[in-house]
Parts: sequence; structure tokens; C-alpha cells
Amino acid sequence: MRGVVLAGGLGTRLLPLTKVTNKHLLPVYDKPMIYYPIEALTKAGIKEVMVVTGGNNAGEFLRLLGNGKDFGLSRIHYAYQEGEGGIAEALGLAEAFAEGRPICVVLGDNIIENNIIDAVGAYKAQGGGARIMLKEVPDPERFGVPVFDGEKIIRIEEKPKDPMSKYAVIGIYMFDSRVFDIIGGLKPSERGELEITDVNNAYIEAGAMEWSTLKGWWTDAGTIESLLKASNMVEKSGANKIK
Ligand code: DAU
Repeated sequence: MRGVVLAGGLGTRLLPLTKVTNKHLLPVYDKPMIYYPIEALTKAGIKEVMVVTGGNNAGEFLRLLGNGKDFGLSRIHYAYQEGEGGIAEALGLAEAFAEGRPICVVLGDNIIENNIIDAVGAYKAQGGGARIMLKEVPDPERFGVPVFDGEKIIRIEEKPKDPMSKYAVIGIYMFDSRVFDIIGGLKPSERGELEITDVNNAYIEAGAMEWSTLKGWWTDAGTIESLLKASNMVEKSGANKIK
């Protein structure tokens, strides 16, 4: 399984912090934000990683991460997303890197306390399709939210005004190679982006979606409030000390 970290976009919710630099280069407690999603992948035993970046200061990722030696990687692959066409557009740039293999995708502003070893193991055992990860949150309306029929997810709603469950779909996804055909058929949403939620809904419609819950805390770091929360959570739990 190969890993993809999506670190494109313009980070407008963090202005003026992102006026001259890329959101994923900002500090979360004692490390640049991008370290956390890369570590989520390496802790799950994933050795080959692509970073998709874009916007301001894309060259700084190379200076910061190099060939990935600090993470135990022999090499990091890079792709550049022009503009802010959405998470699914950024993921589409990883097609050649994936070479038909399954991928684990982590959004560059998602930070977890523990690891995703169990979910990666469950994905490998399910034999294809997709797997998402869920976390109960107090503010599901900020995220993708699953709608259940019993234990089965029947659809995901992106930032619904009236959430149908108390779960967020966190920014860690596992897909087989079909994902790139699905992305190829997507139309931009109302906000002009190719949405990862539309990709996940295509897998749900095909009856090829499974889900896991995440143990330990999770947060995004894409707003001023959540960036501060992320730093405080890392500091408090000592998650940054776990290698
Ligand atoms: O954090 C989890 C949530 O992430 C999910 O629950 C939502 O379903 C999903 O749509 C996403 O929501 P956000 O609106 O918070 O995503 P955001 O636009 O902040 O982008 C998250 C990361 O994705 C960002 O740190 C970098 C990457 N990205 C985003 C865009 C729009 C790209 O690489 N390229 C892009 O064009």
C-alpha cells in the first residue's frame, strides 16, 4: 500500500497566517503540520509516500522533507496542484505514483493521537473497495457526515446544516485503483471543487465502502481555533514524542 498526503489548497481560513506561506508548513506545537500526516502513514508501515502540494512556497516542502530520511523513507515523491480545485483533484495527481496499487490518503491538516494500523489491516483484509474512518465529534456540521441505515452507511453529506449522525468522516481514506476512474467522472461542486465526499459516495453506491472508528483524539488544523487546539492536544498528550 502506498501513501498520499494532500497538502495543496490556499488555506484561506487561516489568513493572514497563510498569506506568504503554505498552511502545512505552519507549526503545530513543536513540528511543522505536514510532519503529522506523514507520520500517520509511516507508523502504519507505509514506506512509499507522495506529497501533493500547491499554492505558496511549494518549493519549501522539498527543503523541509528532502528524501524523507527523517521519517525512515527512502524517497518522497512530489506533485504540484495548480489552484484550489478540491481534495479529489489533488488526489487525481497521484495516479501515476499509485501504479494501480491501493492507497492510503491523509489530508495534510489532519492530526491524530494514535495510529491507523488496525484500519489499514482491516482494509487489506476486505479485498478492494474503500474504507473511511469516523470519529464522534461535537460539531459534525463542519465535516463530511455519514448517514446510517443500521450499521451501514448509505451516504455521506458534506457539511450538512442538520447532521444525520454525530460522526465526522476524518481525512484518512483508503482506496483501490478505481478511485482514479471515479475522480475522472466527477463534476465540480457548488463551491467549484472536486469533492472527496463525492468519491466516497460513488464507492457507497457501488456497495464497496467499509468503515472504521478512530481511537484517540483527532483534529483538523485548518482554522485558527483548530490550529490552536491541535497544538494544545499534541502538547498535552505527548503525541509528538511517539515515534
Ligand atoms: O478534515 C476532514 C474533512 O476534510 C472532511 O470531513 C470533509 O469531508 C472534507 O471535505 C475535508 O473538509 P475541509 O473543508 O475541512 O477540507 P479543506 O478544504 O480544509 O482541505 C483539507 C486538506 O485537503 C488541506 O489541508 C489540503 C488538502 N487540499 C484541499 C483542497 C481544497 C488539497 O490538497 N487541495 C485542495 O484543492
